[in-house]
Amino acid sequence: MSRFDSVDEVVEALGEEGYIADTRLATTVFLVTRMDKPLLIEGPAGVGKTELAKAMAKISGRRLLRLQCYEGQDETKALYEWDYGKQLLYTQILREKIGQVVADSPDLQDAVERIGAQESVFFSERFLASRPLLESVRSKEPVVLLIDEVDRADEALEAVLLETLAEYQVSVPEVGTFVAEQPPYVVLTSNNTRDLSAALKRRCLHLFLDYPSAQRELAIVKSKNTGLPDALAAQLVDVVRGLRELELRKAPSISETIDWARTLAVLGVTELTAGILSDTASVVVKYDKDVRKAVSALPRLVDPNAEVPEHDHGHGHGHGHGHGHDDSEVDGRAVRAGKDEPGRHDDGYYRTKDPDEPAPEPSTPRKVTADRGARSFGANLGRRRAL
Ligand SMILES: Nc1ncnc2c1ncn2[C@@H]1O[C@H](COP(=O)(O)OP(=O)(O)OP(=O)(O)O)[C@@H](O)[C@H]1O
Ligand SMILES: [Mg+2]
Repeated sequence: MSRFDSVDEVVEALGEEGYIADTRLATTVFLVTRMDKPLLIEGPAGVGKTELAKAMAKISGRRLLRLQCYEGQDETKALYEWDYGKQLLYTQILREKIGQVVADSPDLQDAVERIGAQESVFFSERFLASRPLLESVRSKEPVVLLIDEVDRADEALEAVLLETLAEYQVSVPEVGTFVAEQPPYVVLTSNNTRDLSAALKRRCLHLFLDYPSAQRELAIVKSKNTGLPDALAAQLVDVVRGLRELELRKAPSISETIDWARTLAVLGVTELTAGILSDTASVVVKYDKDVRKAVSALPRLVDPNAEVPEHDHGHGHGHGHGHGHDDSEVDGRAVRAGKDEPGRHDDGYYRTKDPDEPAPEPSTPRKVTADRGARSFGANLGRRRAL
């Protein structure tokens, strides 16, 4: 396993794997490799949070384990499950043998007792299906554990994560406690759709990844071999940065800059004009209203001396909405609002929400049942045994 002696070495190693880091980012990565602390990366979509965890796995020569979090996920998907199919298969193959064990039982009670005495055979490591958290502590080789989009998980799962990360151990009541021989590098990412607990934040090194500087973004675009000449790429990066200044519902991310560069290269563009950028703007802005805002700002962004028309209101601008004065009709706001999951976009984090819209009703917190999150740790041992 590589061990880095300096922050510069980390910058270099990440660069070799195609991840362009500045010293602030590399310093945090360096610290993760030296202190057994998880890293929590927060920031808007598409700024390289997930990619950093992948790059860390590559530069350290470690296997990457990924736990993708989602709403309603329970801890069995994070810790472990019993492999029911395998247990069933074994009992069928061993039917005769099992029959012999209970063959001379005088009554049902006695037969159940005898089978019960054999229970540990079926609740042994052989039938344990490890999920990423258990796998990360059980693995013989050190790993990088990516807990992606942790803000999407419920508080109950967050509590389970906290327990695991505190000790780098997982208890399986029927088998015992697994402790990591080598603590994994743990990377948690969050888009901040909800606040994470103070306890989780306290345990972690924290990195806020924002949109990069123009210089770093250009380096990233160049490193992707998009086919767009460097001079145009530099100009494009400035245009995207200009778009980020607008009050858009969803600001363009690094991945969208890369996509735009690729698109323009495919079209064989040799000069960036407001016209070609407008025609391809939907590569970087994904909401109708954002597209209109972007299109009206592009002439100014391409050429600061250009005459910029007043912000238009949807009349005859070629987007198929030249019919109405009712803005909510024009931008399909009602339709989108209906599709948005509750609790997702209500804080307007990172300008993902339309800033012109009124604040929504606060969403009701999701209810979590008492048994969620209570699995696999000491306090629960009695209950599991009694099952
Ligand atoms: N520093 C970087 N060096 C190289 N490529 C980068 C960098 N940052 C971002 N990228 C590019 O941007 C893309 C998006 O990054 P990534 O998927 O990691 O974003 P994210 O922050 O995890 O977004 P989300 O919150 O939507 O999951 C990557 O596939 C990668 O190509
Ligand atoms: Mg991601």
